[in-house]
Amino acid sequence: MNNFEITTPTTIVFGKDQLTRISQLLKTQAVDGKVIVLYGGGSIEKSGFLDKLKTELADLDLHFFKGIEANPEFTTLMKAVEYIREHQIGYMLAVGGGSVIDGAKFISGAVNYGGDPWDVLTQVPGSVFTSAVPFGCILTIPATGSESNSGAVISRSELKEKRTMGGPLFFPKFALLDPTFVATLPKRQIANGVIDAYTHTMEQYLTFTGENLLQERYAEGILSTLIEIGEKVLENPADYELAANLMWCANQALNGVLRCGVTTDWATHMIGHELTALHGIDHAQSLAIIAPRLYEVKFESKKAKLTQYGQRVWNLEGSDDQVARKAIAKTEEFFHKLSVKTRISEYTSDYQDTARIIHDRFVQRGWLGLGEKKDLTPKEAEYIVNQAI
Ligand code: NZQ
Ligand code: ZN
Repeated sequence: MNNFEITTPTTIVFGKDQLTRISQLLKTQAVDGKVIVLYGGGSIEKSGFLDKLKTELADLDLHFFKGIEANPEFTTLMKAVEYIREHQIGYMLAVGGGSVIDGAKFISGAVNYGGDPWDVLTQVPGSVFTSAVPFGCILTIPATGSESNSGAVISRSELKEKRTMGGPLFFPKFALLDPTFVATLPKRQIANGVIDAYTHTMEQYLTFTGENLLQERYAEGILSTLIEIGEKVLENPADYELAANLMWCANQALNGVLRCGVTTDWATHMIGHELTALHGIDHAQSLAIIAPRLYEVKFESKKAKLTQYGQRVWNLEGSDDQVARKAIAKTEEFFHKLSVKTRISEYTSDYQDTARIIHDRFVQRGWLGLGEKKDLTPKEAEYIVNQAI
């Protein structure tokens, strides 16, 4: 088992009808009662949730910032930064999915940052956020785990860039996980949530065998549960029990626990982010495109764990080679059953230069060895993307 350290400081409030509890938390944490509510394109207006929230928080000095888009945009977030600076707001409430919550994390660091916050995302040496405006969140889509982790992914579409940030300053203070939100989600977003949670688990599981026996079983439990409920929740999003299980799986997949004591991969994510940056493909769709091809290209390296995955999660039998190959096919079949396509050409016709651009970007950024063995080269990333067309 590898050495590890974990802190999970976010208070999770799980279940329906918990707004009073959120209001209590806000009132104790936002000392001057001034809170800015950050949200997305308007799903919470349409569902009537924003009105409920306003009523519940009527005695706070509420400000609102609407319009944080899916794959949150640097320029939009900088407008929120300006607003918060101008109105001297010391507490934020993010209401939305990974995009709004990630946006809140970026804003949280950028408000008191003296330099250009883009430098922090591109990791110009010496550029780091050193303070953070505290914030809580209300999760409206189970997918990323952002509600109780400290990572964020920020896009800048005019540069076709999507970059990551994070650190211990950026854990939400609290997160409301209310499964009833799933009922209003478009099917595409539910499928995205299942696949993102599934791939987060795989990124922390499909590496080496036997590093942490409990974490392996835990990951297999999340994968099996997602397989059990994935199609059902897509069919019945208003089924509270199904929605609750999906929301908890997605949270557990990326709250930091699965990585304890094990070696992680994350190459699928790093390549996938480029597909989103270049073509606007949804985050989870980019993972569904890259993951099966990456497992094939890294087959020998991942064979032992693929075999374990095939045996324990998919109940497959046969030689190691057969089980490992079949496990990849089963994974892709699962994505297809969720109506998610796994080829770049099914999302865009403008894919001719994609693999080469990703190769060049990885070289330029010095990302010369990704994955659990740090041996996935830019050439291999290019090959994986070409295989995924
Ligand atoms: O903006 P609104 O109108 O709310 O609509 C959103 C958005 O269009 C809609 N939606 C959310 N809740 C809804 C709803 N529609 C109806 N009813 C509801 N209850 O869903 C759309 C997608 O929302 P978004 O927040 O983008 O989805 P998701 O949670 O999948 O987040 C994706 C972003 O998170 C990043 C991704 O890269 C991407 O930018 N990630 C963040 C991670 C993290 N912080 O740990 C890890 C992930 O790997 C991921 O990279
Ligand atoms: Zn993800």
